Amino acid sequence: MKPLGILGGGQLARMLVLEAHRLNLPVAVLSPLETDPARDVTGRWVQGDPSKLKDLTAFMKLCSSVTFESEFFDSTLIAKAMKDTKVQVFPDPKIMGLLQDRLSQKNLFDEYDIPTAPWRPVDSSQDALVAYVALDGEAVFKKRRGGYDGYGTFVVRDDGALGSFANSGVKGSFIAEKWIKFKREIAIIAVRDQAGAVFFYPFVESHQKNSRCLWVKGPLRETRAFTEMKKKIAKFLTGLQYVGAMGIEMFETSQGLIVNEIAPRVHNTGHYTMDAFSLSQFSLHLRAVAGLRTQGFAIPRAKSFAMWNLLGSEKSHRGAGRLTPWLAKPAVGEKSSSEATVHWYGKADSRPGRKLGHVNAQAKTPDIALKLAKSVAAQTVKDIGY
Ligand SMILES: Nc1ncnc2c1ncn2[C@@H]1O[C@H](COP(=O)(O)OP(=O)(O)OP(=O)(O)O)[C@@H](O)[C@H]1O
Ligand SMILES: [Mg+2]
Repeated sequence: MKPLGILGGGQLARMLVLEAHRLNLPVAVLSPLETDPARDVTGRWVQGDPSKLKDLTAFMKLCSSVTFESEFFDSTLIAKAMKDTKVQVFPDPKIMGLLQDRLSQKNLFDEYDIPTAPWRPVDSSQDALVAYVALDGEAVFKKRRGGYDGYGTFVVRDDGALGSFANSGVKGSFIAEKWIKFKREIAIIAVRDQAGAVFFYPFVESHQKNSRCLWVKGPLRETRAFTEMKKKIAKFLTGLQYVGAMGIEMFETSQGLIVNEIAPRVHNTGHYTMDAFSLSQFSLHLRAVAGLRTQGFAIPRAKSFAMWNLLGSEKSHRGAGRLTPWLAKPAVGEKSSSEATVHWYGKADSRPGRKLGHVNAQAKTPDIALKLAKSVAAQTVKDIGY
């Protein structure tokens, strides 16, 4: 059987590969560097650049179907390689193309009646000023392409901040979005399979520090607004004929739910599923891409759960993620119904804020799980000294 191919070799690819082994699904990875986290765990690792047509085509010829860990590859090239090799890519590269540009992503939200923050396109300092005024002097400027973990995002809530943003020269294309006074940020993972079934993991609360996910806890009690949102998302996935996992980030406001952004892939806010569900987001994504059924497999293993990201501290370290294999063992909490597990990504180097791993915890309530995940994360960081 030809392997299922994964474009990219970061931690998301690594966790997909580890799950593929458990499912007995052969996999191959295309990524550029020997130090890429997925390389260590992939027998069929192919060195190459998913942004080069030659590498893509050669790799895809080896595969039964293909998926990706990042939406920032060149979607036109992937579509071309798909046509040339007749190997299917899921989710469709056309969807990747629409979502990787925040402007077309916003237009898609409008098309599917998905509530989102009011916004304006910005291509010059003049546009920035007009948008700032139109958005009542509270705006977030976001690069249209390539932004992640807060890179390419600028909050502008007074004239001074507008001045520094506009004076730095508006390089490239942005959208300006209204700054939202949210009660909390929430997220959900949806998975649609090739037969058209849509599965949702529960809604979770996610907390960002410096625009980067720090922790997640859940499940949240599902209100009417949450159920309505799921209906809209299911319609959206069906309309796009989407196949695979999708991460949806939202703001909960006093006026209801607003979608912040979506990612056409497995997502950081879904890492808790590795321990809190019988099948994780990685499993269901692979099953969907491989044409297998996804319904009825992911069953909760715990009442509540939490996830705490292990982020690189101020100091940079070489070889950081590889120093501590002995810590990748389960850590059991004081309460017998609680437990935590450390997951490392095997990153060659640590940099400030870089995602090096995460801790998953399960317990009776989301708050107990979060407390445990936090303390195991703190202990882990102390043990390894960074
Ligand atoms: N319109 C807004 N109003 C208030 N806060 C916002 C707004 N947009 C973004 N933020 C804050 O900034 C964080 C990062 O923004 P966003 O998710 O759009 O960017 P990103 O850099 O692409 O992040 P990611 O790594 O999730 O892709 C959000 O999680 C939220 O905390
Ligand atoms: Mg985000």
